[in-house]
Amino acid sequence: MILVTGGAGFIGANFVLDWLAQSDEAIVNLDKLTYAGNRENLSSLAGDPRHIFVHGDIGDAALTSQLLARHQPRAIVNFAAESHVDRSIHGPEDFIQTNIVGSFHLLEATRGYWGSLPDEAQRRFRFLHVSTDEVYGSLARDEPAFSELHRYEPNSPYSASKAASDHLVRAYHHTYGLPVLTTNCSNNYGPYHFPEKLIPLVIVNALAGKPLPVYGDGQQIRDWLYVRDHCSAIRRVLDAGRPGETYNIGGWNEKPNLDIVHTVCLLLDELRARGDGKPYRDQIVYVADRPGHDRRYAIDARKIESELGWRPAETFASGIRKTVQWYLENQDWVRNVQSGAYREWVEKNYQGRDQ
Ligand code: NAD
Ligand code: DAU
Repeated sequence: MILVTGGAGFIGANFVLDWLAQSDEAIVNLDKLTYAGNRENLSSLAGDPRHIFVHGDIGDAALTSQLLARHQPRAIVNFAAESHVDRSIHGPEDFIQTNIVGSFHLLEATRGYWGSLPDEAQRRFRFLHVSTDEVYGSLARDEPAFSELHRYEPNSPYSASKAASDHLVRAYHHTYGLPVLTTNCSNNYGPYHFPEKLIPLVIVNALAGKPLPVYGDGQQIRDWLYVRDHCSAIRRVLDAGRPGETYNIGGWNEKPNLDIVHTVCLLLDELRARGDGKPYRDQIVYVADRPGHDRRYAIDARKIESELGWRPAETFASGIRKTVQWYLENQDWVRNVQSGAYREWVEKNYQGRDQ
């Protein structure tokens, strides 16, 4: 079996669902169930003995050591993190605790467990750390995309905390020989994406008749990847990646934020037109920019393609259509995640920001 952390969040839940749809290898899923963790994402697995959910913190080394000793996983995939840049600007502490200190404790527990394995099991074991392209900082318009050799230049408390965890993972390989793999992926979108992030926020706000907030001039560029393509890339790296290596994962799909918002609006005009016949793009409002906002991310994904033969299956056109359709068909899920805490966050992040 494998141990997955953060498997009740957006990417982790998609990974767990895809994994168990394709394999009978069981998963122990360790998740703290922060505001971003949602057991409803995994409700289709209720009663499935291949999925063992454990409510807990990656920073609890006693718990993780106990889980490792009991279940003897052949691999760990570490998704658990605080993941929202805007939240890291309002309050960095949780990012330091989970992304840095938590990852450190998880690595320590893993080192203890791995050291106790017989030689062959030690050789086959993998610790895969799921990271982000944001550790590389921001690109100018004409600069080449991030390769694995790009220097680290994180600009937000979130990306700095992810960079620190990447460095710890690297150090555990170089110092202790732990067979680690690190993936640095671009922006994901798809089902179960929490509506604090741009794409689900725009879908949810549009349908509710609320403003669609675009930071600054809306010309910041991200490289968007459908979440299930990210999951297939992680499976591929886990199977065939070389220990100690890092792999960049991206969609070859750079787009300015305003284009993304327009695309979502057009799809909604087609699939669920507004009652008054007006276009959803009328709801766009420009709001004050994110402090320290990175201008452009772009991933050079040639290494994972040439070494491991991975490429994304979805185009942006197919992936975004599936995503908008999923939100239209899962309005109960949307309602359930918009708790009081969610509404408080929206007020904190957007109040007084109109320009
Ligand atoms: P998310 O915020 O949706 O989910 C994070 C999950 O981790 C939640 O289920 C949460 O409960 C859990 N968690 C948080 N702190 C924990 C702790 N201390 N112990 C155990 N569980 C904890 O995040 P996501 O968007 O699914 O991102 C998953 C991973 O992928 C993160 O490491 C993130 O940095 C990375 N990543 C995300 C993207 C993206 O576009 N979303 C892109 C590249 C990399
Ligand atoms: O690049 C990978 C990263 O992508 C991941 O590591 C992060 O976990 C993930 O959250 C995401 O970070 P971003 O900051 O790029 O994603 P977000 O959806 O928050 O914002 C996307 C872009 O849209 C960004 O340029 C900010 C802008 N934006 C965002 C929100 C929430 C807006 O213009 N308006 C908004 O209301």
